[in-house]
Amino acid sequence: MLDFIGKLERTHMCGDLRASDAGKQVVLMGWVNRRRDHGNLIFLDVRDRSGIVQVVLDKELTPDGHAKGEAIRPEYVIAAIGRVRLRDDLAINPKMPTGEIEIETTELLVLNDARLAPFSPAEEAIANEEVRLKYRYVDLRRAEMQHNFMVRHRITLAVRQSLSDQGFLEIETPILTKSTPEGARDFLVPSRVHPGEFYALPQSPQIFKQILMISGFDKYFQIARCFRDEDLRADRQLEFTQVDLEMSFPQQETVFGVVEKFLAAGFAAAGVAIPAPFPRITYDEAMRRFGSDKPDLRLPGLTDVRPAFTDEALATLQIDPALPVVALRIPQVGELSRKEREDNHPLFDQKKGAKFIDDFKRLAKGFPEAAAKVRELASAEESDFVIIVAGDPAHPVKASDTKFPGRLSEREINVYLAAGNFRSDLAKKYSSRHGAFAVTETVVRDAHPDRDRIDGSKAFQPIWVTDFPMFEYDTAISKWMPAHHPFTSPHEEDMANLVSDPASVRANCYDLAMNGLELGSGSIRIHRKDVQQQIFASLGITEEEARARFGFFLDALEYGTPPHGGIALGLDRIAMLLAGAPSLREVIAFPKTAKAIDVMVDAPTGVTDQQLRELHIRVALKN
Ligand code: AMO
Repeated sequence: MLDFIGKLERTHMCGDLRASDAGKQVVLMGWVNRRRDHGNLIFLDVRDRSGIVQVVLDKELTPDGHAKGEAIRPEYVIAAIGRVRLRDDLAINPKMPTGEIEIETTELLVLNDARLAPFSPAEEAIANEEVRLKYRYVDLRRAEMQHNFMVRHRITLAVRQSLSDQGFLEIETPILTKSTPEGARDFLVPSRVHPGEFYALPQSPQIFKQILMISGFDKYFQIARCFRDEDLRADRQLEFTQVDLEMSFPQQETVFGVVEKFLAAGFAAAGVAIPAPFPRITYDEAMRRFGSDKPDLRLPGLTDVRPAFTDEALATLQIDPALPVVALRIPQVGELSRKEREDNHPLFDQKKGAKFIDDFKRLAKGFPEAAAKVRELASAEESDFVIIVAGDPAHPVKASDTKFPGRLSEREINVYLAAGNFRSDLAKKYSSRHGAFAVTETVVRDAHPDRDRIDGSKAFQPIWVTDFPMFEYDTAISKWMPAHHPFTSPHEEDMANLVSDPASVRANCYDLAMNGLELGSGSIRIHRKDVQQQIFASLGITEEEARARFGFFLDALEYGTPPHGGIALGLDRIAMLLAGAPSLREVIAFPKTAKAIDVMVDAPTGVTDQQLRELHIRVALKN
């Protein structure tokens, strides 16, 4: 094994060889994917990043290679020296890109042996994800994972190129820094040099990118690592990557144009064409039509079916007449049995003060006209499953009734949210029946960076959501919190209500949603110190606290700050969508488990007493 070093150079990648290479002398290196022993002939499927090729060890041609082949096991690392030859017609494998050829081996080197892994990279992912993550190096060898990371790489490259072409400069910002308010907990790093003091890891480069605008860089971007100590979900990791950008003097539409360009480039790099411009919708409208601020447009939206009911009908059905009455429709689910309908009940969020009616037979008995009208308004086909969601007077929730001209009250939003959540949960549950998600799966399956672009307009449906409320009331701590972050500018005309009516203030802030996932979020920022101070004050942040946390930034705002704005998109989420993966863990090489553990390296772990002493830290609780 040792005689390899300094002697042998690989000539080709396994997966690249084709019939046109027949006759060429090659040196290939890779892992043994499978071995088949046919007596005098041993076949090895040899795998590298590019794919798999069949290597033949013929006892007559290479007695030594054949003898080594007998002892070879899966995942051994080998070098095969030989000639590319066409396979016999009967042996051609049309399923393999290299299926027309094989390697007639003259010499075989075993470069390394391998222990038997707990699972085979030649096969589909095993169900036990912890084992996959513990042996991540074996898991990452699987063709699916190699594909995911190749796609992620191409997307990143294309996005970077597009932003550079659009005049953005990539500038790195610190990892050891001060707390950035993005609504999660910070990861803290104790300072050895300054006892009792801590750096925070950035939740995003937010303040730095704003300062780069004050610094005159005009257009900044970064493929930025962010760190947030929050509960993990399929679409959330502790550390993740943003395509982060900021620009000076933009209108909201300017930012949208930049993103539409780089996103289309990123998708194209994965083999998928998406049309721009993307549709736009206000937050209120998104709530009314989808019951969500990240609408999934692949399915029908909600329909206002209030007109289908007389006041008397609403009273008998015990529906709150002051709140929305909407229908949601999941296509092609068909009539459900009582048992099936009951199984759906736990999916409905009753805490929102809403109720639902999904038994149309019963409704039709008491209110035949209303039942027919609901289906008509919702354009429901015979085979569609329709549910009515409405306010429940028996279980009202504590919420503000205040309504602003043309805007929704919190109570109304709650009913829409209950309907929207139910809609997306049912859509997931019945996805095999309605087929709306299958469109995406088909495009993902067929798309490849090296093939012609596939039309992704139905499979990937982006939408800009604009005019979010500026504040959200956090009932747990009885405080108004920024719906985005406290550097977002309010609508000029709502400024007068900052203190008297925080709920009515709209923000110059926007999200990009795609297929029910929040891909990105941004805003036009506050560029004046007095406005920034007013916002801090309306959030209950005292002047002292603002000084301590953001003093440097408030100072910077006084030295000639241009109007500016920007956005950050989750790169992991983009890669996840284009990989058709159910979780970010499929597109992050070394992710954390849901319990926030890296099971491969075994982090977090304790540290030595010496390290703690140096950091001036004493651990009070030890498990
Ligand atoms: P925000 O906090 O909305 O905005 O984050 C922007 C985008 O980053 C992604 N994202 C995550 N991805 C994986 N795991 C997480 N824990 C996680 N958290 C967020 C999402 C999200 O849409 N500084 C602002 C942006 C700005 O105003 O310019 C910010 O970070 O895709």
